[in-house]
Amino acid sequence: MPSVSSTGAVLSVARPPHHRRTTVLAPRLDALMREHLGKDLVRLEPDTIGVAGAELSDRILAARKATETERPTFKPLHGRSISKTEASSVMRTIGRDVREALRQPLPERLDLSGPWPITGHLFLRDLLLRDDPYRLRILMSRKLEIDPKLTWTTIVAGAALPRRPKPGPGSQLTHIARLFAEAGSYDDRRYAMGMYRRAAAPVCFTVSTLVANALWLGSPFADTASNRNILYEAMRLLPPSWNLLRNRSPEYPAIDDRIGPGDDVLLLPLLTHRDPALWEDPNEFRSERWDTLDPDDTPGYMPFGHVSERCWGRHMVMPLAELLLENIRRSGLIVAPGQRTADVPLVGLLGVQKIHLGHASKVRHV
Ligand code: HEM
Repeated sequence: MPSVSSTGAVLSVARPPHHRRTTVLAPRLDALMREHLGKDLVRLEPDTIGVAGAELSDRILAARKATETERPTFKPLHGRSISKTEASSVMRTIGRDVREALRQPLPERLDLSGPWPITGHLFLRDLLLRDDPYRLRILMSRKLEIDPKLTWTTIVAGAALPRRPKPGPGSQLTHIARLFAEAGSYDDRRYAMGMYRRAAAPVCFTVSTLVANALWLGSPFADTASNRNILYEAMRLLPPSWNLLRNRSPEYPAIDDRIGPGDDVLLLPLLTHRDPALWEDPNEFRSERWDTLDPDDTPGYMPFGHVSERCWGRHMVMPLAELLLENIRRSGLIVAPGQRTADVPLVGLLGVQKIHLGHASKVRHV
């Protein structure tokens, strides 16, 4: 049964008493969960409909492709549209960097203890971006999330620096940094820095968030539990992309007359993924359910979006997240038993704000 905390919003995943943890959702997320779980469609605002029914979500997402302003990663940058061709070229570039990062042996004494997701974020930044110059690596800073103007200022300042960027001694620029190094004009440098942020930052942000969520929701894991299934289950309970926006469009009222012509539609995987009509023990972390389910073909499961246009980054995300999780499990790190609550704020990515990971002998109380 979900437990209730004094802070308001709560959901809890059933687990043995000594591992019981409470996940405190931001009040608006909690209200969504409390008021709308199990409904297929709800009115959220005078001009916004929320959709959580699996079949209805499927029909809406299949009705048309996301427009360029609805796309989460390659929205227009500095007022310039990003074509599909350019977007896929940037994705191939960052994909090469991720593959190279995955080929490197991990440091022998890798220590991933500390607060998460930030520890994972910094580790991934170093693994992926190696010795890229400071003016590019700074674009991975989580502080830039506070205000988009900060990102803008950092980019403007970095692009204005006269010298061409060079890697650290004895190393090479990443492929994604070379786009910047090869940019001729100030405008092109600015644009390339924006792309660097758009493509590289999500890798560090999303993977560290996903792993932190998995550890919080599901650990300690059975020895036989596969990392991949643990991650699928974590994305079910706390989908990092917890909503998908589709702006008003004539296709939608035609699908369901409860949607008006002026309504935007917010698809809500957060609710769909816990719909009691779809999932057995919907609030329980049971990674073994994925032993027999196909995550690409399970009605109502859409952490990476709809089959018609699934996340282009998922083939990078999964191996990196598995690598981190494997290392954490092998090195005997655990979530501090003294930590009983974790906040999930209402920011871009849905995830626990801070969990403490440490060696079993040292983290009895936090
Ligand atoms: C846990 C990690 C991630 C999750 C859960 C996730 C989720 C999603 C979802 C739900 C969509 C569909 C959005 C829609 O239809 O409106 C999407 C699309 C997309 N994702 Fe991801 N994503 C993740 C990581 C990444 C990363 C690391 C990258 C890039 C490096 C990326 C690049 C994209 C791209 C290019 C699209 C296609 C639409 C666009 O241009 O934004 N994703 N992702």
